[in-house]
Amino acid sequence: MAETGHTQRVFSGIQPSGGLTLGNYLGAIKRFVSMQDGGSETVYCMVDLHAITVWQDPEALRRQTRELAAGFIASGIDPERSVLFNQSQVSAHARLGWIFNCVARMGWMNRMTQWKEKAGKNSENASLGLFAYPSLMAADILAYHATHVPVGEDQKQHLELTRDIATKFNQVYGLDFFPITEPVIEGAATRVMSLRDGLKKMSKSDPSDMSRINLTDSADTIARKIRKAKTDPEPLPGAVDGLANRPEARNLVNIYAALAGISVDATLAQAGGRQFGQFKTALAELAVETLAPITSEMARLMHDPAEIDRIIGQGANKAAAIAEPILDQVHDIVGMIRSRG
Ligand code: TYM
Repeated sequence: MAETGHTQRVFSGIQPSGGLTLGNYLGAIKRFVSMQDGGSETVYCMVDLHAITVWQDPEALRRQTRELAAGFIASGIDPERSVLFNQSQVSAHARLGWIFNCVARMGWMNRMTQWKEKAGKNSENASLGLFAYPSLMAADILAYHATHVPVGEDQKQHLELTRDIATKFNQVYGLDFFPITEPVIEGAATRVMSLRDGLKKMSKSDPSDMSRINLTDSADTIARKIRKAKTDPEPLPGAVDGLANRPEARNLVNIYAALAGISVDATLAQAGGRQFGQFKTALAELAVETLAPITSEMARLMHDPAEIDRIIGQGANKAAAIAEPILDQVHDIVGMIRSRG
């Protein structure tokens, strides 16, 4: 990781707005786990305040938050080595989010492609929270003075905004207070695509369940979804340039490489010349082998929701211990009186 003037700290978050997908796993969680062993402090958050920018049924939100925590732990996040918690239990996020709403400019927010996509033609009816969402995301990161943020490709623009907010805050108050965060977008699967359409992102909100692999899918379901995944009639190419203009082929190769922990070149060196039928069988086996232990561990953890709540409560205490002193400093910098005993 690149050196900055600030102590290295990793932060990332995932919305508990539905089940976890293979996209979340390969684009984010797998990297969270490897960074846990990279020597920096790691802080991982279930961002429930972000989830409610669109309607969430309260009971479903609670269940999904626990399921996400179980997914983190089952994938290898150790709550003793990483700080693991849900966002709403640490008020620093919302407090800094408000201050950043007063730093970010309307023009910056209006340019966010995810806002444009999500609000669509119905923006008059979208929540104010959905518009302000990226400013809260900047607060998530900067309340911890995080220097590195592992995410999938789709979050890149939000991380650029985070840098803009930090830079403007530092400039207007004449201090080097917030770090300029580095996005960590790495690996063969920074943008996992839909299994039905190689030009669309794999997403928990896609109406077709066949478009994605969920971490809670059974081995049979995973194998069936991969078998039915859209491809083209050509065999696999022997080198990366043979994937040009073949988005579905590229996607399956990227997924294979990311699951196997090898490069796309190495994948094609093994699989070049094969038909997709054969490659899909190997991919399904690899996916099941990787995901089945995670799925069964998640199910086991979900039997004890009180234990999950205890773990994330302790995580929230650790998170607050980092963020609260930073928020105190922010209030001092901005000119707010703190006189409570
Ligand atoms: P969310 O909940 O949509 O996704 C969580 C993480 O998974 C990655 N991801 C993918 N990666 C590759 N291929 C895909 N198809 C795919 N789909 C999702 C996302 O890039 C993300 O890393 N705004 C964030 C949550 C957030 C956050 C933060 C992240 C809130 N505050 C602070 C980092 C730091 C989001 O909606 O992610």
